[in-house]
Amino acid sequence: MEIFVVPDAAATGVVAAGILAAVVRSKPDAVLGVATGGSPLPAYQALAGHRLDMSGVRAFALDEYVGLPAGHPQSYGEVVRREVTERLGMDPALVRVPAGNAADPGQAAEDYDAAIRAAGGVDVQLLGIGHNGHLAFNEPGSAFSSRTRVEVLAERTRAANARYFTSESDVPRRCITQGLGTILEARHLLLMVAGTDKAGILARALHGEVSEDCPASALQLHQHVTVVADEAAAALLAPGSGQVPVRVPREAVGV
Ligand code: PGA
Repeated sequence: MEIFVVPDAAATGVVAAGILAAVVRSKPDAVLGVATGGSPLPAYQALAGHRLDMSGVRAFALDEYVGLPAGHPQSYGEVVRREVTERLGMDPALVRVPAGNAADPGQAAEDYDAAIRAAGGVDVQLLGIGHNGHLAFNEPGSAFSSRTRVEVLAERTRAANARYFTSESDVPRRCITQGLGTILEARHLLLMVAGTDKAGILARALHGEVSEDCPASALQLHQHVTVVADEAAAALLAPGSGQVPVRVPREAVGV
């Protein structure tokens, strides 16, 4: 595991975008795993600045709410369209998000898992981490071997996501999420974390017990993980605990 510590959230985007750009340059039809939420947004913004030809790049999103009507502005399908596909000039036909409004969401989840495999798997998977340690919508207790499936959102997750809706009661209760087993099959995991409120859970995930009580502790089981954290989120990472964080100064990041 490599850990880069940078001054702020914008700088996490610069470092993550550099990694993504290198993947796309070496493989123009790379399969990116894209994430929603606030953490990865600086990466999409910085990657747009690279002005790469992204027209052949394929992408799979981590998750989607179940039950929002097609085109709902807070559906992850719409968020990915706005923040990723359009911003980066990608081909919408090559960007997949789970079909949260399918008549049979369980079948849609299985089909999605199969589609990732059929595409040859994910080259690099962007991730954020939830305050309860979730990865995608794999809430505490999710099996490390879990596959893409319909799940119920934790109340803490619904409260955190209420900021995108008029009220918490509007946040859907169910979702389709890639499983931890699905995510762990990506060849490279790229976790972006910013903010003091993530410091405790980041330290637990990277240095604590590997346990399904903390889904993100599954990262410790993967051979190729890059963590890009800002100083605030990295504050509780323990030097000498196995993974030594590399501090990247502001001048080197250029923001
Ligand atoms: P955030 O969400 O990036 O908006 O903090 C992360 C998550 O819940 O996985």
